[in-house]
Amino acid sequence: MNKIAQIQKDVQEYYGQTIQKTDDLKSKVCCPVDSLPNELKPFLKNIHEEVQERFYGCASSIPPLLEGLTILDLGSGTGRDCYLFSQLVGAQGKIIGVDMTDEQLAIANKYIPYHMERFGYSETNVDFRKGCIEDLKSVDIEDNSIDLIFSNCVLNLSPDKEKVFSEIFRVLKPGGELYFSDVYAGRRIPKHLQTDPVVVGECLGGALYLEDFRRIMQKVGFLDFRTVSQTRLDLGNPEIEEKAGMIDFYSTVFRSFKCNLEDICENFGHVAYYNGTIPGHLHEFELDDHHLFRKGMPVPICGNTTNMLSETRYKEHFKIVGDFSTHYGPFDCTPEPTKNDYDNSGACC
Ligand SMILES: C[S@@+](CC[C@H](N)C(=O)[O-])C[C@H]1O[C@@H](n2cnc3c(N)ncnc32)[C@H](O)[C@@H]1O
Repeated sequence: MNKIAQIQKDVQEYYGQTIQKTDDLKSKVCCPVDSLPNELKPFLKNIHEEVQERFYGCASSIPPLLEGLTILDLGSGTGRDCYLFSQLVGAQGKIIGVDMTDEQLAIANKYIPYHMERFGYSETNVDFRKGCIEDLKSVDIEDNSIDLIFSNCVLNLSPDKEKVFSEIFRVLKPGGELYFSDVYAGRRIPKHLQTDPVVVGECLGGALYLEDFRRIMQKVGFLDFRTVSQTRLDLGNPEIEEKAGMIDFYSTVFRSFKCNLEDICENFGHVAYYNGTIPGHLHEFELDDHHLFRKGMPVPICGNTTNMLSETRYKEHFKIVGDFSTHYGPFDCTPEPTKNDYDNSGACC
């Protein structure tokens, strides 16, 4: 068996047999470090307890403005996030969850009728498909067909991450958003840990070094991506900590868009005003860890941020003044002091 097939087999065994619920995990990595925002808590209450008991995500952050969207959840597990999205997109929206592990899919599928009844839908808007996230054609996901791609603590488990990110770029609609949580490392993981089934299964052995992540993103077409939040992980297991040695791990939420982006931020003199119209964000909206838009307050933005806000579903919620006719040089990319231990905001300001 080649290395890629071996890693996938180990991961399937880990999530199919070794662990049966969140409490079986051997570290504190795959637990929600961000609590779900208050406005989403009532939706969580509608989700079956067996699905919730097997939630292995590393964050609980989701973007706004979901009504009517087609959302793809990569590595959907038993479907906790899919069932949250199912309620938020409404009956006109659609959720596709892709996972390769039969046991995870069996639980996700078992509760479709329960959730449809609970959400008051006459037919399901959730579709779980068995497949590998490295090959989304094999699960019939067409080019430019998805509004929002989401994933929670999965991409680190992939043995071919560049393939996954290029598939993401392929299937995202122009103007679509990639929004996901995963585990990252402040340095490259040594070879022997990349094949340790427990360290890999706990979402550590396959964690990408943040700068290698940036290289992959820029190579596949996400020239600028933004850090929404980043929390240094306490592994909570002395044996795994000893194996990890000096490696620092982070639970990170990133977002990017399939829109016109440059590899560094450039200044065209744009200014953005937030209208205060995004449900749940009436006073302010945080695009990333260094762009907080307060209702009505002018914020100077670079060309990339301009396009993120004007070529996507966020466009109705901002007034942007300026055009691309005059270039004033690079945008000052000095990040604001952040709440995070490690600030890596890709190519952006
Ligand atoms: C840590 S769990 C997270 C599950 C889910 N996102 C959640 O938050 O509960 C990882 C999931 O990703 C799936 N997975 C890992 N690698 C995969 C791959 N290459 N293709 C498809 N699914 C994969 C596993 O089967 C498992 O269900």
